[in-house]
Amino acid sequence: MKLWQSKEQNDVDMDKIDVKRLPNHIAIIMDGNGRWAKERNLPRSMGHKAGAEALRKIVSECSNLGIKYLSVYVFSTENWIRPKEEVSFLMDLLVEYLVKELDELHRENVVINYIGDITKLPEKCQKNLKNSKNKTKDNTGLHLNLCINYGGRSEIVKSFKEIYAEIKLGNISIDDVDENMISDHLYTSGMPDPDIVIRPSGEYRLSNFLIWQCAYSEFWFSNIFWPDFRIEHLRRAILDYQKRDRRFGGV
Ligand code: IPE
Ligand code: IPE
Ligand code: MG
Repeated sequence: MKLWQSKEQNDVDMDKIDVKRLPNHIAIIMDGNGRWAKERNLPRSMGHKAGAEALRKIVSECSNLGIKYLSVYVFSTENWIRPKEEVSFLMDLLVEYLVKELDELHRENVVINYIGDITKLPEKCQKNLKNSKNKTKDNTGLHLNLCINYGGRSEIVKSFKEIYAEIKLGNISIDDVDENMISDHLYTSGMPDPDIVIRPSGEYRLSNFLIWQCAYSEFWFSNIFWPDFRIEHLRRAILDYQKRDRRFGGV
């Protein structure tokens, strides 16, 4: 197995990670790009670029480990209030990332998916996202969910509206509505809920990320900024996760 081949392999004692009890679904709030750049007297855009590079390594590591789902928060429904230049830089960076990495991700057997309302994104983003999804749809490895123009509350509104439309058509009755039905109308329909949510950058909040799906997730916070997030941090998070006692309301 090529699990622990990277240079960072000695930073976390890999023997301690139980490969049979890996999280099925890891969710990451990739935060701190701006502050990483500020610390270096660089423009915020350089932080985003470094963040995209950090993501690339983490995707490969998740894929090598055999993680089934990785959801990463790329752009929130709230991020539109940022300066116009920053928003358009982020949109361009997304396209650049997809163009540059698609073939390699495809070779790594990654299934590329997007989550969120992409109809509000520039045409070229939509085109590249759809193309990446289509090209990798028959892969059987890691499912990479790029959460773009994603907001947990608007996702729940979407679910309610779709269910209401079904009720109005008479296809279902109000008594049929249950938690599974609401889940089935979320972007993550058919996927397991995140087992662990990782947030670097020293913030301790969800910022509207997968709020329904994270009802029983474990949380892992770190002070490091996302561009500095490395394989060793991911391994540390997984190791800590494996020490948690998940009771789901039981004893
Ligand atoms: C995360 O980094 C990237 C996006 C939200 C798009 P930030 O840009 O939020 O970085 P900070 O939080 O300002 O440091
Ligand atoms: C969350 O980070 C969104 C993404 C990482 C894409 P933010 O930087 O937007 O979150 P807040 O504003 O600190 O809550
Ligand atoms: Mg931030």
